[in-house]
Order: sequence, then structure tokens, then C-alpha cells
Amino acid sequence: MSDTTRKNVLVFRELPPDQLARLQAQHKVTVANPRVPEQAARFRDALATTEGMIGSSYAIDEGLLAGAPQLRVISSVSVGVDNYALPALAKRGIMLCHTPGVLTETTADTIFSLIMASSRRLVELANLVRDGHWQRNIGEDLFGWDVHGKTLGILGFGRIGQALARRAALGFGMPVLYHNRHPIDAAKELPELMGKITHTPMEELLQRADIVAVVLPLSDETRGLMGPREFGLMKPGAIFVNGARGAIVQEEALLQALNHGPLRAAGLDVFATEPLPLNSPLRTHPKVTALPHIGSATFETRHAMAVLATTNLLQALAGERPLAMFDLSVV
Ligand code: DGY
Repeated sequence: MSDTTRKNVLVFRELPPDQLARLQAQHKVTVANPRVPEQAARFRDALATTEGMIGSSYAIDEGLLAGAPQLRVISSVSVGVDNYALPALAKRGIMLCHTPGVLTETTADTIFSLIMASSRRLVELANLVRDGHWQRNIGEDLFGWDVHGKTLGILGFGRIGQALARRAALGFGMPVLYHNRHPIDAAKELPELMGKITHTPMEELLQRADIVAVVLPLSDETRGLMGPREFGLMKPGAIFVNGARGAIVQEEALLQALNHGPLRAAGLDVFATEPLPLNSPLRTHPKVTALPHIGSATFETRHAMAVLATTNLLQALAGERPLAMFDLSVV
């Protein structure tokens, strides 16, 4: 590749070595993670000339974009695009790529694990053994609740919501209620779930489900969606699980629902502020199973995401249509 076709690329979160090497073979690459204090200045300097960026988990806002006048494409190593100033990208004609599909099954596994952990009190009881408190047979005070046969309500029914529904309906005999903008034509799109899933208005879903799982993207429409009224509608003894984005939930309202309201337990992979601040009451709440945003965090899936994101970036910089481009015309 000649020097004139080599573009300036900024890698703003570590990539696996094989994918970094693919980029370096074709472009001039700067690796600088702005979250690491010693790399922040290098990141800001590189922005001035960067044409393509790749990374995740960092807010690329309008101010930051103003410092990147030559930027043509951002390739996010995530499916969620809530970290990016979408209207500003659309206005400047900067392309945004992401990684749908490759993380669907892993993220659904994580969310189902949270359902199991919250219902059967797995973390609490494993800690009891670890801490040497298993001195006699456990009694009712430590019993959990069955998952199989319970009604699962899913808010959001994209790829991950559907993968969760398959686990619940086909593996655990759970009736599934789902809420999203458009009902699915199950006969055509999900024949294996025919008769097992029901499109339900959100209010009714909250009232009927034993377990409610949030799998929605974060947008202006969904920010703060789960508040005091919504938690108040849930069944006494219900379980709440969030595997999407923390900001969809009003955390104060969730705490109220755990302390004084209907909730038996909550399983949370995501939080309004991440990493979860040490003083957050959710961190040590006895009814909460909290995970450090591990939805897609397996070796296989994180590598597949890096491969797709790198391919997206290389294609975009070559003037080709990337495999997975986010549609900015809808923002
Ligand atoms: C995603 O891909 O959006 C995951 O939540 C990781 O950020």
C-alpha cells in the first residue's frame, strides 16, 4: 500500500493483536485510550488528523468531534451506539459502523444467567458456602424461586430479545410476553416460537410478568423508561433484570421498588454510571446481583466483535460499503 493511500487511524480501546495487525498492514495507526490518563494527550493529538476511529465504551460527543475535522468513519466495537453524538455524525456525514449479530447469543446467555442467579439466589448461596456458613441443611429462609414455567416479560424484541425468548420458551417452558414498537409475525419470522410469545402493551406486560427483562437500546425515547410508576405496576415478588443500558432505569426508583415495593430481586449487568461507583447502594444491596457489564464478554464473542469492527473500518476506508453500518438517517 502506498503512503498516499494509508489513512490515519485512531484505536481508542485495545484491539486483539491480530486485528491491530490487519489495520497496521494498511494504515498509519495510533493506539491511545483516552480513559488511561497517560494516553489522553496522545488521543487528543491524534484526533486532529484521524480519518477513521475504532473502539468502544467512550463517549464521542460533539466537542470531541469538533477536534477531528478529517474524520470519515467511526467503527464501534459494540452493538449499542448510545456513546456517539448521532445527530452530529449525521450532519457531518461521518459513517458509523457497529457489531450487531455476533454478540446476540452470548448477551442472551448473560441475561438468562442473571434471571437464574436472581431467582435461585445463586451468588448469595455460593458466598454462604465460601464464607463457611453452611453449617446445617438450608431452610426456607434461603429457598429460591422456580424459573421454569414463570412468565417472562421482555421489553425490546430485537435480536437479543428474541434469543432470550428462545431460551425461556423452548428451554424453560416459560410463556413470553414481549413489548416493542412492531409485533413480530411469528409464523414468518420466528416459527419455532409460534404460540409461545405474545406482543403485549408495556403496562400489561409489567402487570403480568413474573420476571421483566430489559433488552432495549438506549435512546431519547427509552432513557429513564423504568421509573416509579413502571416499577409500581410490577407484580409483588417479581424479578427485574437489565442487560441493556443502565440509563433506561431510574436507579432511585429501582431502589425504592427493592426496598419498599414489589421487587423480590434484581439482576443488573449495566448501570447509569460505569464502572459502578463504590458508594452506589446497588453494589451491595442484598437483593441485587450486579455484574460489571459482561453482556458480550467471552473470548469468542469479543474476538468476533473485533474482527467485524476491523472489517467494517477497513471497508469504509477503502470506499466500500461496510458489512454493518448504523443507519444514521433515522436519528
Ligand atoms: C454492546 O455491544 O453494546 C455491549 O453492551 C458492549 O458495550
